[in-house]
Amino acid sequence: MHYLLERVYQTNDLSKEEITYLLENLTQVDKEVLYNYALKTKQKYYGNKVYLRGLIEFSNICKQDCLYCGIRASNVKVKRYRLTPEEILACCDQAYELGYQTFVLQSGEDLWYTDEILVNLIQKIKKRYPEVAITLSIGERRVETYQNLFTCGADRFLMRHETASKELYETLHPTMRFEERRACLNALKGIGYQVGAGFMVGLPGQTFADLAEDLRYLMELRPDMIGIGPFIPHSETPLAKEKGGTIKDTLVMVAMARLLVPESLIPATTALGTLHPQGRELALKAGANVVMPIITPTSVRKQYALYENKICGDDHPEDCRYCIERRIQSAGFEVDLGRGDSRQFVACN
Ligand code: 5AD
Repeated sequence: MHYLLERVYQTNDLSKEEITYLLENLTQVDKEVLYNYALKTKQKYYGNKVYLRGLIEFSNICKQDCLYCGIRASNVKVKRYRLTPEEILACCDQAYELGYQTFVLQSGEDLWYTDEILVNLIQKIKKRYPEVAITLSIGERRVETYQNLFTCGADRFLMRHETASKELYETLHPTMRFEERRACLNALKGIGYQVGAGFMVGLPGQTFADLAEDLRYLMELRPDMIGIGPFIPHSETPLAKEKGGTIKDTLVMVAMARLLVPESLIPATTALGTLHPQGRELALKAGANVVMPIITPTSVRKQYALYENKICGDDHPEDCRYCIERRIQSAGFEVDLGRGDSRQFVACN
């Protein structure tokens, strides 16, 4: 077995050079050991519980033009939609009925949703369901907006850093700036959100050293949540012909994130479930402890295609809710329908 595996399990620490070296030299047997260490570490911090979050993809309109993303502004083939605040509230009602205690509101960067509209919506949700946690995933906004949304009741914010390589970041995001992304993440943390960062695996040109840098960045930022998924090429983007990430490489990164930021909440992502029929279960066995079933209305969910062949396109929210529960149980874990705050957050509040 690789000597660094034992070390990362014992100490939850490795330098960038050590991580790179380990990633470059893992054998298949090492990978199984790594997944198992990550599972044990997850169990030490969170037991056998898996938290559920209801995901509402409320608009696929986006002003950004990320090279990998199916809802990038330049993709004229995608049919655009925007749910009204009333429709979003109706999704929350349904989510609550299904037992969710976290609602994740995700969208493209769509400025139709002004501060006022968002504040109103969040206040209404919180008034109706005071015990529920609201997670936003709406991309880059002004710090003042982040502050207003937090003040009126938003609890958490997901915004992947996407890649910690400045060069790769700027190639993939022609309309965005690397430093701005980091400034947003720092601002969100400073305001008091539980913050989620994370990255894609298998981006064109991405090296093991880049992935090591992603992990080192997470060790520094100490986010409450870490989302890691394979890059899946979309045919209507400039990266259509690229290879994309593999299930194995992604599972290795999930497990490494668990060992290096052990107290974090790590979702078994939909992209992993798209790449492999058991992708999410495998992630749960490699250190993940959250699943985010989709509760977007069936009438529009196929239009939220960041990548193609996304699973659950024809399903209804209740299908996803119970399908996931069965999958979690058959993988040997327990569903926890509580808010599922991160250990780091609970310790500080
Ligand atoms: N493949 C995989 N993941 C993608 N995302 C966007 N486009 C793709 C793609 N083609 C991810 C990004 C974003 C998250 C919501 O979805 O990491 O932050």
